[in-house]
Amino acid sequence: MKLGICTGGGDCPGLNAVIRAVVKSAIGCHGWEVWGIRDSFNGLMSRPFDIRRLGQDDVAEVLTRGGTILGTTNEGNPFKLKGKEDPSRAHDKSKLVVEAYRDIGLDALIVVGGDGTQSIAAKFVDLGLNIVGVPKTIDNDLAGTELTLGFETAVEVATDAISRLSSTAESHERIMILEVMGRDAGHIALHSGLAGGAHVMLLPEIPFTYESIIAKIDERRRMGRNYSVIVVAEGAYEKGKATSWKTSATGSKHLGGIGSIVAQSLHDKTGAETRVTVLGHIQRGGSPCPRDRIIGTAFGVHATELVERRKFGRVVVLSQGEVTSIPYSAVADKQRPVSLDEIFVRAAEETGVCLGRQAPKWQISGGKQKQQVTSAKTGKKTQKRQAKR
Ligand code: F6P
Repeated sequence: MKLGICTGGGDCPGLNAVIRAVVKSAIGCHGWEVWGIRDSFNGLMSRPFDIRRLGQDDVAEVLTRGGTILGTTNEGNPFKLKGKEDPSRAHDKSKLVVEAYRDIGLDALIVVGGDGTQSIAAKFVDLGLNIVGVPKTIDNDLAGTELTLGFETAVEVATDAISRLSSTAESHERIMILEVMGRDAGHIALHSGLAGGAHVMLLPEIPFTYESIIAKIDERRRMGRNYSVIVVAEGAYEKGKATSWKTSATGSKHLGGIGSIVAQSLHDKTGAETRVTVLGHIQRGGSPCPRDRIIGTAFGVHATELVERRKFGRVVVLSQGEVTSIPYSAVADKQRPVSLDEIFVRAAEETGVCLGRQAPKWQISGGKQKQQVTSAKTGKKTQKRQAKR
């Protein structure tokens, strides 16, 4: 058996744990060959192929290291590859990948990636490649899995940042705003906010109003707490407005800047002194936390088991605490945003956190969660049943 492995999309802590587990179990338990592919699918598109055979020595001492020893890119979609001369034109180079897979004589390929990479991998599954996916992204927004690699470490780093910002916010009586990653999903903001005790959490799933944020700040002021900490996901936006984007030094456009917008608006509207911290890639780099090392190892071993059982076209997931797998069709081109009726949303609002909206009145009855909804037209209050997760 000749097994290939690549890591795609933005890196995250825990990728090396997967590579290590695959190499150790494939070689140690099965006696297979393992080939590491450089920079996502790029190693299969380049000629000569950019690949190297991996041995046990290559993965010694990588468990605790951040990043990926195979390299990665989030700009190498073989189906829509941007031309070097004219980046506005995309070319389909997928044939090069299929050709390389056959020429190298790979029997299977393990693809470690987030939603973008797994959607690409799903297309290669349709083209007949034997692929098993492993989910990773600090955003934790991949469909079908309760957890993606890197999320736990990112939450740990963001939580630490919130704690540090809280003490200086209190000393100076300021509003501190922490902008965290989370393109389309606010899992990092919600979880780090809960763990760090943020007073306001702004998520892409709930377009926010300044009215609600200011009401929270005022409530705290009345209690003699003349400071607040706000955690905002980069993809959050004001109700009725669009998400905010910034241009990098190299001219590419990236989500971001909402932290500064919130800081400026709150200063203008309340007179409060505000400061912004953009956590950026600090939350994506560095050594994985224990859980990411453990999950990475378990995901890697399970991926190898799927290859052994020739169960291709599947993605490893964590479901109800179990490491199992689901078909690519349940993952590709799908996302898992924060669900507005999940316990963590309720936990935040029931403990007085402002999520950028007027908090609904949550009531529990008969094991089902009920949210009190006021009709905009009639003003009548009704109980809306929430699906129990
Ligand atoms: O997909 C993970 C992610 O961390 C997003 O939250 C963020 O928008 C993006 O990566 C940043 O990517 P880049 O490394 O290209 O700036």
